[in-house]
Amino acid sequence: METEIARTDTPEATGAAVKRAVDLLSRGEVVALPTETVYGLAGDATNADAVAKIFEAKERPLFDPLIVHVRGKGVLDEVAAVPEAVSGVVSALTENFWPGPLTVVLPKKDVIPDIVTAGLGTVAVRCSGHPVMKKVVREFGRPLAAPSANRFGRISPTSHGAVMNELEGRIPLVVDGGACACGLESTIVSVEPGEKKAVIRVMRNGPVTPEELKKYGKVEQAAREEEGGGDGLEAPGQLISHYAPGTPLRLLEGPDDFRPEEGKRYALLSYRGQEKDGYVGLTEFAKVGVLSPGSGKLPEAAVRFFYILRELDESGVDEIVAEPVPMRGLGYAIMDRLKRAASG
Ligand code: TXA
Ligand code: MG
Repeated sequence: METEIARTDTPEATGAAVKRAVDLLSRGEVVALPTETVYGLAGDATNADAVAKIFEAKERPLFDPLIVHVRGKGVLDEVAAVPEAVSGVVSALTENFWPGPLTVVLPKKDVIPDIVTAGLGTVAVRCSGHPVMKKVVREFGRPLAAPSANRFGRISPTSHGAVMNELEGRIPLVVDGGACACGLESTIVSVEPGEKKAVIRVMRNGPVTPEELKKYGKVEQAAREEEGGGDGLEAPGQLISHYAPGTPLRLLEGPDDFRPEEGKRYALLSYRGQEKDGYVGLTEFAKVGVLSPGSGKLPEAAVRFFYILRELDESGVDEIVAEPVPMRGLGYAIMDRLKRAASG
């Protein structure tokens, strides 16, 4: 199958791209669409056959559930049954963070077929703020299942070119909406009643940080697979090995942690690319990818993360070594991706 690319550089082009996407979705096809986090591979969430095509194109195992996109908080109850005990907190979260990079896991309603949620009784719901995604969701009129538009376990795509690298020939359309503004997948939370305050459990760290969530409840990190929490229920998609580049990647604890082997070619994934951090001069790196060359800050590092990782992966070195980034704000989300990439 030939994969068509639809541009959105003029209002007319955007209108045509949205129409083309909605046409295909209505026929049960899948299309790659931009969101503010990463590109998503969308299909009609109420149509099990369309959803099956998403799994097929991504080579995603059926036990890994998908995120469902809705057009706003007003229609959340079309796909999810918000428990009375947490409805105040859920409203506060959707009020404050939607449209935006926050996904909330809630008990699912029957319109969402089991294939979407991998048989779980819960559904992960998100409302993207990307203008193209917003238009498509609104004009399509039904919820869209949209996981990241990469093959399973690989690096998430933050540009239409990266989607083409992953899925060209497998899907009929990619809508080019430019580079993704956040660059990391949405923060995923579930909400439970707590003793004094509701508990907001972070199942995946992302652009909405624990600090920001704290205002709305007691923030806890969900147990990860390697900590014995991966029983397939709490955070089924939180597989240890994920976002894996083809090239082995090692996350360094500090500069002393790096002992190059004779004859091996290394690339450095650097946070700020500055000598004073102690990494760039460690050896004759074949390539250095800098996450935040401009501001030297975490938001820039997040936006560029998957793009730089992909670039280093394609550079043909034997191993990528990565500097750790500070554990605050977006640092949690970046370190989480780095740890998973390192266990590929
Ligand atoms: O930013 C994003 O969320 C992007 C854009 C395209 O929406 N999507 C995305 O989807 O990252 P995906 O499929 O790559 O990651 C979805 C994650 C998986 O780890 C999956 O296991 C988890 O969400 N998930 C989905 N439904 C769940 C549920 N009911 N309970 C727990 N985790 C769930
Ligand atoms: Mg993904």
